[in-house]
Amino acid sequence: MAKKNDTMEKLVSLAKRRGYVFPSSEIYGGFGSTWDYGPLGTELIRNIKEAWWRDVVLAHDNVVGINASILMSPEIWKASGHLEHFSDPLVECGNCRRRFRPDDLAKPDQCPVCGKKQLGEARQFNTMFKTFVGPVEDEAAVAYLRPETAQAIFVNFKSVQQASRARMPFGIAQIGKAFRNEITTGNFLFRTREFEQMEMEFFVEPGDDERWFDFWVKERVDWFHRYGIPEEKLQLRAHDPEELAHYSLGTTDIEYEFPFGWSEIEGIARRGDYDLRMHQEASGKDLTYFDQAANEHILPWVVEPSAGVDRAALAFLSQAYAEEEIESAKGEMETRVVLKLDPRLAPTKVAFFPLIKKEPLQEMAHRLQDESRFEWTTFYDEAGAIGRRYRRQDEAGTPFCVTVDFDSLEDDAVTVRDRDTLKQDRVAVAELTAYLREKLAWR
Ligand code: GAP
Repeated sequence: MAKKNDTMEKLVSLAKRRGYVFPSSEIYGGFGSTWDYGPLGTELIRNIKEAWWRDVVLAHDNVVGINASILMSPEIWKASGHLEHFSDPLVECGNCRRRFRPDDLAKPDQCPVCGKKQLGEARQFNTMFKTFVGPVEDEAAVAYLRPETAQAIFVNFKSVQQASRARMPFGIAQIGKAFRNEITTGNFLFRTREFEQMEMEFFVEPGDDERWFDFWVKERVDWFHRYGIPEEKLQLRAHDPEELAHYSLGTTDIEYEFPFGWSEIEGIARRGDYDLRMHQEASGKDLTYFDQAANEHILPWVVEPSAGVDRAALAFLSQAYAEEEIESAKGEMETRVVLKLDPRLAPTKVAFFPLIKKEPLQEMAHRLQDESRFEWTTFYDEAGAIGRRYRRQDEAGTPFCVTVDFDSLEDDAVTVRDRDTLKQDRVAVAELTAYLREKLAWR
């Protein structure tokens, strides 16, 4: 197994080599902590989002989705408290002018870049990205890139509730980009300035939030288990009162043990009626819900599970990365690098190979691929020795490789090789789809 301290380096290198993640703007020297998903990374995050949507939205009668604009009225950020409170402390070096978060400094009075002891007083730095809407760059045209997707849910609460005739408790979910002008970024996909969130605001009777909080914490921990994170690599951490976000009555983070240590992958917060109340007051619009049982209008309270797509991807990739000593076809020991991603998350589900680059094996492998290309992401490879093709798919995380050999022409069967067990099953072509469907089923 790779040592903890070099796993990240190996992961970044594999991610680039296999087309998971590339440094953004690379031909121009990169653009500080921005990353682009390549062909495999794009499929991976599509699958992560699908897994979340299935388990948070489709699995529950009372959860619906929205897809809101990123640019919204700046009034929203004033009312939500983000303009005033969404900030991190920052110190600036009087010599080199570099800026740091005080909690990132090894020595509180010394600049980690130039070494001078000229750090200024800590001041608050609002981490919302500002832009201008329209051709005039003045205060009246200011807009913000959303730092969380949640506010779009709160301001649409009434419309969604009425349109879907939702009865409490119910949830509104959204997956989308969020932006934060983080003072420090790093650890690959872990902290970036542009990222994606999977958030759900669950509206409950006032004061009935604790049991729903427990419910969603368990649901979300189970979700990470279900897709491959073992129990011992997850922990819950409740926020101390002084670190709570301005809207929160209580927050618990789900932390994963990354190669660089335990860090948050998801936060579950009890937001009370803070957001609906602030928007109701600021907009003057009624955001109450009519509680039929009590025959009164109430402002619901909110429980919010909020996960990062990119952090989830990094957790699943870190967990999946393995190096194993195996015996090669020539009887020599060699290191196999493999991404043991859950098959449901794996970017390519099935690779099809002709044993050698010859007809009619090629034609049969193509035909089998064509039969399943709209069911799963597939890949065809005929280049190089079969062992090398398996290794490439191991690194890519492909759970199944289907090989057409000369016997296939006689027995109408193929070999299906399992990425994790290395076991090879002989499967009749007529049974292949059913065989793969069973292994790749979502539930
Ligand atoms: N609406 C609540 C909210 O935004 P948060 O704890 O600030 O809560 C939720 O963010 C999740 O979003 C985090 O658990 C993390 O997975 C992801 N996230 C937050 N900041 C991020 C960043 N700079 N880079 C990548 N992911 C981030």
